[in-house]
Amino acid sequence: MKINTFEEYKAAYKKSVETPELFWAEVAENFTWQKKWDRVLDWDFEEPNTKWFLNAKFNITENAIDRHLPEKANKTAFIWEPNAVEANQRVITYQNLHDEVCKVANTLKLLGVKKGDRVCIYMPMIPETVFAMLACARIGAVHSVVFAGFSSSALAGRIQDSDCKVVLTTDGAYRGVKDIPIKAVVDEAIETCSSVEKVLVYKHTNTAITINKAKDVIWQEVVPNASSTCEPELMDSEDVLFILYTSGSTGKPKGVVHTCGGYMVYTTYTFNNVFQIDTTKDSKDLFWCTADVGWITGHSYIAYGPLLAGASSVIFEGVPTFPDAGRFWKVIDKHQVTHFYTAPTAIRALEAAGSGFVTPYKLDSLKVIGSVGEPINEEAWHWYNNNIGKGKCPLVDTWWQTETGGILISALAGVTPTKPSFATLPLPGIQPLLVDDKGNEIFGNNVEGNLCIKFPWPSIIRTTYGDHKRCKEAYFSTYKGLYFTGDGCRRDENGFYRITGRVDDVMNVSGHRIGTAEVESAINMHADVVESAVVAYPHDIKGQGIYAYIIAPSTTKNHDNLRKEILAEVTKIIGPIAKPDKIQIVSGLPKTRSGKIMRRILRKVAEGELTSLGDTSTLLDPSVVDEIIAGRL
Ligand code: WTA
Repeated sequence: MKINTFEEYKAAYKKSVETPELFWAEVAENFTWQKKWDRVLDWDFEEPNTKWFLNAKFNITENAIDRHLPEKANKTAFIWEPNAVEANQRVITYQNLHDEVCKVANTLKLLGVKKGDRVCIYMPMIPETVFAMLACARIGAVHSVVFAGFSSSALAGRIQDSDCKVVLTTDGAYRGVKDIPIKAVVDEAIETCSSVEKVLVYKHTNTAITINKAKDVIWQEVVPNASSTCEPELMDSEDVLFILYTSGSTGKPKGVVHTCGGYMVYTTYTFNNVFQIDTTKDSKDLFWCTADVGWITGHSYIAYGPLLAGASSVIFEGVPTFPDAGRFWKVIDKHQVTHFYTAPTAIRALEAAGSGFVTPYKLDSLKVIGSVGEPINEEAWHWYNNNIGKGKCPLVDTWWQTETGGILISALAGVTPTKPSFATLPLPGIQPLLVDDKGNEIFGNNVEGNLCIKFPWPSIIRTTYGDHKRCKEAYFSTYKGLYFTGDGCRRDENGFYRITGRVDDVMNVSGHRIGTAEVESAINMHADVVESAVVAYPHDIKGQGIYAYIIAPSTTKNHDNLRKEILAEVTKIIGPIAKPDKIQIVSGLPKTRSGKIMRRILRKVAEGELTSLGDTSTLLDPSVVDEIIAGRL
């Protein structure tokens, strides 16, 4: 299943396109199935309806844990690095992982969770969070992990959307100097969530919590007493494994649904091939993905991919700048990390902090470095390559999405070529194409267009929870017969792909996906705001910043106070990650005669591109543009 040379990559790619079913069946042979599939693939992008490994029966945790035990019981599954430098690290072997996952699984059963029930996980970056995810998978429950930085109202919306029966959380979460009382966020959220029967609380920070006797159960009082064996539930390949909410260009977040079989096969395959880790029993290779498990990167390359592959990895609780901007590099030296996977926003922030935070560290254990989540600009690419990879580690720029489940376009470390700011080539099984706005395929090289994929891969999105029509409209309707990514893309003279960023109304702020519509509706909750329009603008560290234009004609507040209140409103409704960087108060927005906001103009103004605004004469009131330019922040 591992590709070792560029020639092997080319051969694998060819085979995957010519005989995809044969190709993926051979990959799938590497796993433990209780019953093999009757058919490899059934698909129709119109519906859409994609099924992989039909009627195969198995459990993903048997593959991520049990099948490693005969050989690797004592191999490290995880090293946990706590937020505080002086706090104790924890080492979790595959045997420990097995026991802990089974205990949590048995506890969930005790709390009434059954196969198919939804369980919400709102927890910080601690090993228990991964135990919780795998425990759900063990008993066939569907996990919905919500990033623990989301507000109570954002959490409530997600719990309600999928009717979660149980919520798992901690008393508090450490993030740098902060100790955030997250149980209190859950308490507030579930006031409006009638589906929640129990809340399982892991005591982590010893922050005081309010106990609701009817619902709350303290982890430490039940889990340690549970049995450390739990038979894995027999799952169908297409049974739902998890739901993960992500932002789209319209309305509320969508619950992206992934199923067991295809997700297992694809995350393992990509983990092995992109990172090229030695996963043998005595290997010292150590993988570290710095993402939060609340995002897809944490699902696929912390919780599932590395464990399915039998690798060892680091789970880090803290933030890159605590206690100082050298923390990542300190952790790499401390644990002798060999494969490091992070986001461009972190790279840019740490570069900006100065080389004094890097030079004290050797970083000589590193073999491969990776990037994910947003386009990596050339400057950051070179800094990362020279200062962290020391020019000797392949840098894999991995492009993918929540909806794709795993990496689709990337170099394979040390095997296929890299090129600064290019994700480079599609993985075997991935058939990308570029189309123009009318949906015509753009052939040849040295071209640019909208990125689509024409053939399914095993971990493609199956549906959006509870609303299949939305899945069809968002991904399979813009261009008939194609999966549309929402990204713009260039293909260079050698056929290498460079993702240029979103072409829809989704922003990418510090690698977090945020819909403009979501932020607008949060801003509009402020009583003084009549209307708002939100756009992204280039930001040196975050990649994109959020620029909000608001109309508040009758406000009696001074503008600074109004801005503060709006920031508080957005924090309350979504969370701090969605706070606008700039809020401009305007008397009107540029609209067409039919009332449509001309976002293109607002984007140009926010970017400072004042000379290329295009024709504004068709606007209802062209003079608002002059006012907006004059008041630009
Ligand atoms: C962007 C994160 C350029 C892209 C895994 C995509 C990237 C969105 C890259 C998905 C990359 C992710 N180069 N852009 N290497 N990786 N993106 O769902 O716009 O949080 O559509 O998944 O991030 O974000 P999501």
